Amino acid sequence: MTLNLAINAPSERLRFACDAAHGATEQVPLLAKLATGDVSDADYGRIMAIFAALFEAIILRIQALPGGLNLLALTHLAARARQAQADVQSLAVQDRVGALGVPFIRGSGSALGAMYALEGARLGGAMIGARLRRAGRPVGAAGYSFFEFRDVPVAEDWRAFKSHLDRLLAEEAQLDEAVLGARGVFELIAQAFGDRFTGGSE
Ligand code: HEM
Repeated sequence: MTLNLAINAPSERLRFACDAAHGATEQVPLLAKLATGDVSDADYGRIMAIFAALFEAIILRIQALPGGLNLLALTHLAARARQAQADVQSLAVQDRVGALGVPFIRGSGSALGAMYALEGARLGGAMIGARLRRAGRPVGAAGYSFFEFRDVPVAEDWRAFKSHLDRLLAEEAQLDEAVLGARGVFELIAQAFGDRFTGGSE
């Protein structure tokens, strides 16, 4: 019985609905390269510039929604955004990323879905941080704060966030919206990296 409840939990249904989109994101050439830890300095800086722009756009949009600030407080998105910005500055990234559109966030359900995608990305981020460190990057130092997850209780944080999702996405219509919001983030990432990195890195 417990098993059924777990499988039907909104957070698990969200994971299932986004499985293919997540897999596609992992295949984006530059992100796949990042995941090996072996990425050029220039590409690393550009990746950070895109993440900084992505977090900024999503946070601004959610903040503008009624109750948006309370939703954001359930996540680590604000801190992640600050890390990304600080890294971009420390790395003196020259690339400018224009404001990204996030029309798929239109209410609390889709906001929760977008937050699901970005908060869940900390799980993969922890793995990427370990790979970057193994490849000799000074993870944790200036310019490399975004992928520093040593001493961060990522798994516990994730469990706590999923329990919020299970409570807040209990209504079917909200869950449908969340799927759209989460898929919107995955698609935007694929598009942002695809547009700028067609053919991979230089
Ligand atoms: C090459 C890039 C990526 C790799 C290698 C990767 C890897 C992973 C891994 C290994 C997990 C599972 C961790 C675990 O279950 O303990 C995970 C979970 C997740 N990742 Fe990624 N990831 C990548 C990119 C992304 C991006 C760009 C996003 C969205 C912004 C994302 C969103 C998520 C989400 C939402 C989960 C949680 C799934 C769930 O349990 O519901 N990932 N990722």
